[in-house]
Amino acid sequence: MSATITPHPEFEGVYIVEYPDGTRFIATKSLARGVSVYGERVIRREDEEYRIWDPYRSKLAAALLKNLKHFPFRLGIRVLYLGAASGTTVSHVSDIVGETGVVYAVEFAQRVFRDLIQRVVQHRPNVVPIFADARLPADYSTFVDAVDVVYCDIAQPFQADVLADNTDYFLRPGGSFFLAIKAPSIDVTAKPSEVFAKEKQRLVERGLKILEDIDLRPYDEAHRMVVGVRPA
Ligand SMILES: C[S@@+](CC[C@H](N)C(=O)[O-])C[C@H]1O[C@@H](n2cnc3c(N)ncnc32)[C@H](O)[C@@H]1O
Repeated sequence: MSATITPHPEFEGVYIVEYPDGTRFIATKSLARGVSVYGERVIRREDEEYRIWDPYRSKLAAALLKNLKHFPFRLGIRVLYLGAASGTTVSHVSDIVGETGVVYAVEFAQRVFRDLIQRVVQHRPNVVPIFADARLPADYSTFVDAVDVVYCDIAQPFQADVLADNTDYFLRPGGSFFLAIKAPSIDVTAKPSEVFAKEKQRLVERGLKILEDIDLRPYDEAHRMVVGVRPA
């Protein structure tokens, strides 16, 4: 069954894949042909490959499908990605920013960091792996230049402060942030809605401007994606 592939009408670097039976997916054009990162479906077209972007595996894909409006990712930008894990979302961001962009991928768990190297870094010159604790941005400040986007998905307490400590260091004024807030990991005794509200308030107290707050269900039951900018 042959699919049609068209550029997304709004988001640079994102493609819409449509099969004759009407099923639709989003995808990115692979920067590392012949390499599947997390078992994603790959579609070949002449000498290009398009990787289906799974919203059940990537909260950024889920946000896109849940009507995200602010999408600052594009060719040539620099992204600081906190909580890279084995690189599922990092790999799609790497496809979008292309050879002229950079993804600084911070991760502190040894096992997944090894997977990140094998599955992603070895095949993608634009991903810079940083084995470090995202709570300590001073530790990697010498490796990271000013960035256009800070993306934070660490599923840990004080996520808003970890993000803001990193935006203070690295995000250029006018740059964008993404924070995947996981309610249960912050405070198991509080209601998720209270946790989300508290974390958002903290972002505002830290000088960040919230543009969107996206419920990721049904793709992800536990997280919301908060998107915004560092005022210029
Ligand atoms: C939910 S997973 C990230 C999934 C990934 N963002 C994706 O979409 O492919 C969270 C990751 O953050 C990492 N992490 C948690 N706290 C961290 C910290 N303080 N510094 C660096 N990495 C951290 C964990 O080890 C885990 O791999």
